[in-house]
This record gives sequence, structure tokens and C-alpha cells, in this order.
Amino acid sequence: MKSLSFNWTQIASLSTSSVTCKVIPKNLKGRNKSSQDWLQRQLNDPYVKLAKYEHYRARSAYKLLEIDNQCKILKPGQVVVECGAAPGAWTQVAVSRVNSLPNDKDKPQGIVIGVDLTSIHPLPGATFLGGKDFTCPKTQQQILDFLQGRKVNVVLSDMAPNASGTKALDHENIINLSYSALRFAVQHSAIGGSYLCKIWEGFMSQKISEDMRKFYKNVKTIKPPSSRSDSAEKFLLCRNFLGIK
Ligand SMILES: C[S@@+](CC[C@H](N)C(=O)[O-])C[C@H]1O[C@@H](n2cnc3c(N)ncnc32)[C@H](O)[C@@H]1O
Repeated sequence: MKSLSFNWTQIASLSTSSVTCKVIPKNLKGRNKSSQDWLQRQLNDPYVKLAKYEHYRARSAYKLLEIDNQCKILKPGQVVVECGAAPGAWTQVAVSRVNSLPNDKDKPQGIVIGVDLTSIHPLPGATFLGGKDFTCPKTQQQILDFLQGRKVNVVLSDMAPNASGTKALDHENIINLSYSALRFAVQHSAIGGSYLCKIWEGFMSQKISEDMRKFYKNVKTIKPPSSRSDSAEKFLLCRNFLGIK
């Protein structure tokens, strides 16, 4: 990885160059309209270019970097459980910020464990449970076995179901995933811990925020700059876990 610091000048210059010199994809034959649109957007997206340049596994790294730069969630020595970790871009950010490799011998060493339905290419400093459904009690028990009694400081969920195209159904499915990670966070977090999850806006957004407020002192909605403006995606950040009363 070249550098974990992201640089607005780089983004701006890449962005400008993509405006003046828009890439028109070749070989579009056989692709449907939405697949063509996706390819065109990828080829002209400054974050996709920057992710390649900085050796992140996906552009999604910048969402966590931007949120963490703003809110300072991740710190050296923390225990992080990441739900929906593949291909591992958020994990790259988490490993660096909690010093789980450890890169800095003078700072406390953290732990990062990531789970995904699909397999994940190994990453030094992280432990992956690939091919596992986070919502299964057996998977959660494997995480706990690995942690050997250590409480979790940060639960991250970027889990997303396969989109069906039906907005309300997709919303309900992602909210159910967020509830699953919330339940885990509430049961296994250290007092003061944080929970960050991705949702797609919809009729249950208000309800899950209210439920979060029962367990966390602060809950806020964040839309980082790298999250596409035409996407219903938002992030809920819960801070200062109060414990179970
Ligand atoms: C947007 S991607 C995550 C990207 C990741 N944060 C990164 O930066 O590389 C969403 C992931 O959630 C995973 N996922 C969806 N449902 C899941 C579940 N029940 N258990 C574990 N992973 C799940 C998907 O397999 C997919 O890889």
C-alpha cells in the first residue's frame, strides 16, 4: 500500500482530468444498459483511480477514511469486528488505524477480524472468516472464540444484500443486516464502544436510529463525500456505548 493518507489535491486533479478526458468504455457489446452505465461510471470515477494508485482493494476504503478522519473512531490498540469485509478495503484502513500489524511498535497493537459470505484474500494484520454468514450464531461464536474474552471497541458493518431492484425490499434486507450487527455490538462491546453501519435510506431508518439511541449516547447519520450522491446509501455512526441496563 502506497500511503494511507488520502489527498484531496489528488482527487481533485483526477476528477478534473476525468472531466476533460472522459473515458468511453470499449467492448460494450452484450452488456445491458445498467452494466454499461456501471462500467462508464467506474472508468471515470476519481476514487476508483485513487484506490488503484494507493493500492486499496476497492474505492469503498475512502468512505471509511473520510468518516474516520471526521469522527476519529479508530485508534491504535482497539479490537475491531468487521461485518461484510470482502474484498477488504475497509479492513486495510482498520489494520492501519488500529495498528494491528503492528506498523508502529511504540503504539498499542489492535485486532481486526473480518467476516464475509464470500472468501477474502488474506491481509497481514487481519483475521478473516470468509464464506461465513455473519447473522449465523455459529459465525458469531467463532468471532468470540477468536477474541478469547476481549470486548469489542468498534463494530463495522458495510454488509449489503444482493440488490433485488425493489427499493423497499432491499431497504428492509439491509436494515435486518444492520440489526444483526447492532445486536452483536450491544452484546459484546466495551463501554464507550462504537458501531458504524451502512444502510440504504427508507421507511425503517428512523426506527433503527431510535433503537440505537437506547444503547449509545450519540447516533448520527453520515454521507461521506465519496459515497455517490445518486445512491440511497448512508452510514449510521453510534458512539459511546452505554452498556446494557
Ligand atoms: C459493499 S461490500 C463490503 C465492502 C468492504 N467494506 C470493503 O471495503 O472492501 C458488502 C459485503 O457484504 C457481504 N455480506 C452481505 N451479507 C452478509 C452476511 N449475512 N454475512 C457476511 N457478509 C455479508 C457481501 O458478501 C459483500 O461482500
